This record gives sequence, structure tokens and C-alpha cells, in this order.
Amino acid sequence: MAHSDIPVIAIDGPSASGKGTVAQRVAATLGFHFLDSGALYRLLGLAAQQRGIDLADEGGLAQLALQMDIRFEGESIWLYDALVGDELRSEQTAAAASQVAALPAVRAALLDKQRAFRQAPGLVADGRDMASVVFTDAVCKVFLTASAEARAERRYKQLIGKGMDANIAALLQEIRLRDERDSQRSVAPLQMAPGATLLDTTPLSIEQAVAEVLARYRAASKES
Ligand code: DC
Repeated sequence: MAHSDIPVIAIDGPSASGKGTVAQRVAATLGFHFLDSGALYRLLGLAAQQRGIDLADEGGLAQLALQMDIRFEGESIWLYDALVGDELRSEQTAAAASQVAALPAVRAALLDKQRAFRQAPGLVADGRDMASVVFTDAVCKVFLTASAEARAERRYKQLIGKGMDANIAALLQEIRLRDERDSQRSVAPLQMAPGATLLDTTPLSIEQAVAEVLARYRAASKES
């Protein structure tokens, strides 16, 4: 199968919209590979902090992005030779990821790493610019969102479920701030790509959202 024939389902949207869970389940149902592109930005934020690289040092961060040794094995993520745990999902790491993601040289440096996930029989890629930048030829492009309140509540439950500390008002504020930073930045801002369709999951269960993405993918594959 030629590289460009390998189907990609691009799922973009704001943080805590549930797209990670939905994308993972869609990938599992189809037997496709899965790319959590946000994890790459989070890993870079973590690696920079471990190495004392300033989060505004664009050149140093881009260099680190190119060299960074990461491995995804099922549910496990390795950064150099260390297994990355819950710190990947912490609010502190999310804030670092959002900062490094605003730097054009960092985004460019991570392009090849992301495209390398496109392998037969297919890929489900989750992020902010999967449809608009990384996989512009994706066969199915979904912009998945939910209200900020619904997202804060989902994140709250997720953190409490993991035994982590959480405050719903602070989470809502953090989500609004991050949305603003992610949608205002000059490079690859969070926005719906041409050809993408909107899926608002505020009233939907995860199962309903998964079924909807699968239906859109099947309809798009028939057309192409
Ligand atoms: O999806 P997430 O919360 O794990 O993403 C972490 C940060 O990385 C978030 O601030 C947005 C940014 N990001 C991005 O700019 N582009 C992507 N493709 C994925 C994530």
C-alpha cells in the first residue's frame, strides 16, 4: 500500500473534549494505529523541564524535539529510558505543552515524528492540526468539541478517578485560558479545517460519539 493510500481519520478539537478516548476507541474498532499528538507536545514540555531548557527557548526546544527519544508501546509511553507516568497528564505538563506548542520551529520539528505513525492498515490521529497541517489528505476529518463546562467536568472526574487533586473552578479557568492560547496563536491555531465536520459531544456518551465518527468514516470511504 502506497503511503498516501493509507487512510487517516483526523480528529481535532480542544482539550478535554473527549477526543482522545473517542479516537482511541475508533482506532481499536478498526484495528488502526493511533497517534496522540498532544502527548508529543507534553513529552517535549517534560523533557525540557528535566533538562532545564527554558520553555521560551525556541531553538533549544526544536533541537530537543528532533532528538527526543520516545516510544509508544500500547498504553505505555517511554521518554528516553524512563516510563512516563501520570505526570504526562498533569495540569503543569499541559501548561508546558501549550507553551511549547505555540512555537513554529517546535511544530515543524515534530512533523516527521507525527507522520511516521501513518502505517497500514490505517491511522486515527488526535490533536489540534491533524486535518489542517499534518494529514491534510485525511479521508475523514472531524472537529470534536464540547462546552467548556462539560469539558471541565470530564477532566475533573478523570483526575479524581486517578486519585489526583482537582478543583472544578480552577479547571474551567485553565481550560478557557488554554483554549484562548491555542486558538489565538499565529501558527496552526485551533480551528476547524476545510473539509472537516463538527461533532459536538456535550449531549453524547462516549459510545455515541465513537459510533458517529465510525459512521462518518464509512460514509467518507465510500465517497473517495
Ligand atoms: O490534547 P492535549 O491536551 O494533550 O494537548 C496538549 C497541548 O498541546 C495543548 O495545549 C495543545 C497542544 N497541541 C497542539 O498544539 N497540537 C497538537 N496537534 C496537539 C496538541
